[in-house]
Amino acid sequence: MTTHTLADLQKWEEKGRDRSPPIRLGVVGDPVAHSLSPQMQNAALEKSGLDFRYAAFQISPNELAEAFDLFRKRDFVGLNLTVPHKIAALALVDEVEEHAREIGAINTVVFRGGKSSGWNTDAPGFVAAIRDAFSVDLRDLRVLLLGAGGGAGRALARQCAWENCERLVLVNRTFEKAQALARELAPSFAGPRVLGPEARLEAVRWEENALRPQIARIDLVVNATTLGLKLFDPLPLSRSLLAPHLMIYDLIAQERPTSLLEAAAEAGARCANGLTLLLHQSALAFELWFDRPAPRTEMRVALRFA
Ligand SMILES: NC(=O)c1ccc[n+]([C@@H]2O[C@H](COP(=O)([O-])OP(=O)(O)OC[C@H]3O[C@@H](n4cnc5c(N)ncnc54)[C@H](OP(=O)(O)O)[C@@H]3O)[C@@H](O)[C@H]2O)c1
Repeated sequence: MTTHTLADLQKWEEKGRDRSPPIRLGVVGDPVAHSLSPQMQNAALEKSGLDFRYAAFQISPNELAEAFDLFRKRDFVGLNLTVPHKIAALALVDEVEEHAREIGAINTVVFRGGKSSGWNTDAPGFVAAIRDAFSVDLRDLRVLLLGAGGGAGRALARQCAWENCERLVLVNRTFEKAQALARELAPSFAGPRVLGPEARLEAVRWEENALRPQIARIDLVVNATTLGLKLFDPLPLSRSLLAPHLMIYDLIAQERPTSLLEAAAEAGARCANGLTLLLHQSALAFELWFDRPAPRTEMRVALRFA
């Protein structure tokens, strides 16, 4: 799959990118070459008889504003945004949907009627992903979220609040971001404590001795950090904290198990990779662009985990 650049966008017609069917959708990231979105969204476009193609765009943070202008000029239908653009792109769209504004990050852009709008489908997609991966409802779980300060982490934390999850523990390398998010979410967790006197919402330091007492009171651990994207990244959670009662969900959307998922499986925990989130957040984005149900079966097959 070819990855396009800002230079390609600048010389779009010259480069023949408008040949039929024209590229009118894409995922924008840095890096982006590993993205499975093109194969999945192109399968969805084909199944739906829509005469467009979806491509990957390697765009660095300092190129994002110019790329946005060019996507607009080139009559794009929509975009997906991935690392590291989800927060910065908020400032580039004309309107931001209410939930996305509350989250403070967008992963989907819709161009319609001369205007662009920003949406976040990671958050609702996460509910479907957890049900798909573990056959449980997010709202029934006690969740520990690693990487709570990132774009995806913030979205997932908000969704846990909207779902009224039993407990939410926020962990982030930059602890101040987890603390700030805990303050923002506090009103959502002020309700009755079904589990007794313990706090329903906490920000906890990323230190083994701070995390250890949490583990027995957690059902689901989510890795929403970028650790694991690179082959030799360290584990986001020490092996000694991985216990058989846990469900471990790693947002990294790849079939090859990350070292976290390998270690979790060895510890006897139930594990799932981020492909289910990729499927469900992408299907929701497709529905925003085209106002029709996404062909989830074909999208799942295109991701090769049917
Ligand atoms: N499956 C899917 O559909 C899907 C959807 C969304 C995201 N994702 C994945 O989720 C991950 C996060 O994406 P994002 O958009 O939230 O990225 P982001 O906004 O760049 O956030 C990165 C997060 O990772 C943390 N982090 C980065 N390097 C770290 C390190 N060396 N040690 C510990 N923490 C570190 C950051 O902590 P600081 O705040 O301290 O910098 C921050 O919490 C990525 O792997 C992405 O591919 C998958």
